[in-house]
Amino acid sequence: MSVHLGINEEELKRIKKWFRGYVDSFNTETPLFRENIKLKDAHTLRLCDEILTIGRELGLSDDELRLAEIIALLHDVGRFEQFARYGTFNDTKSENHAELGIKIIDREAVLDQLEDNIKELIVKSIRYHNMVSLPDNEDETCLFYSKLLRDADKLDIWRIVTEYYHRKDGKKNSGLELELPDTPGFSESVGDDLANKRSVNFKNIHNLNDFKLLQAGWIFDINYEPSREIVRERRYLEKIRAALPKSEEIDEIFPL
Ligand SMILES: [Fe+2]
Repeated sequence: MSVHLGINEEELKRIKKWFRGYVDSFNTETPLFRENIKLKDAHTLRLCDEILTIGRELGLSDDELRLAEIIALLHDVGRFEQFARYGTFNDTKSENHAELGIKIIDREAVLDQLEDNIKELIVKSIRYHNMVSLPDNEDETCLFYSKLLRDADKLDIWRIVTEYYHRKDGKKNSGLELELPDTPGFSESVGDDLANKRSVNFKNIHNLNDFKLLQAGWIFDINYEPSREIVRERRYLEKIRAALPKSEEIDEIFPL
């Protein structure tokens, strides 16, 4: 990307400081609440590392890496208020956490010191991060950062869910399972999506198996080769497959 982005180290530091203060302001209430806040806080910090790793592999400049890091840092900022208000991370049972995050960034004037075009780029990358697919009428720079964020986000969510599926203590976290029932089988439309090598539409998710298959299907929505390489190294798909029932029907559609 050759666009001049002009984000200095001071800006990045200021936004990081804001993020810390904002997240820490939620550090109250019940253990379940704290656990879920911590989960998204840690997710965000790891995502910053992931986006920098992919960004460096893609040859981004320091300026571009700083912008990528800000996008990673702010992408899920709506998650904290979402859980505080609704007690769930399920957008369909509460509200779109990307849009909620954008409202918070606006309300707290987090990006007001940045140039308008950069502010817009950050806001759009956040807006697009949880959409089933990216809009095709966006400019190249915006799509580049949106794709970078979506790759990094998936890498870390894969980490969270695969660690969870293979956890030793067996403790359930309804926040991570989106309160979905652990019933047998999977939905036909989910199987169709995977068989056709496309990512699964969230509205067709009805049980935990569907949700695991949706997570496997993210591989069709990975944009950059360095991200794909990390998926292979960490054996994420193999780990998700191992958390699903042994079934020929699943073997047939599973993207391995
Ligand atoms: Fe998100």
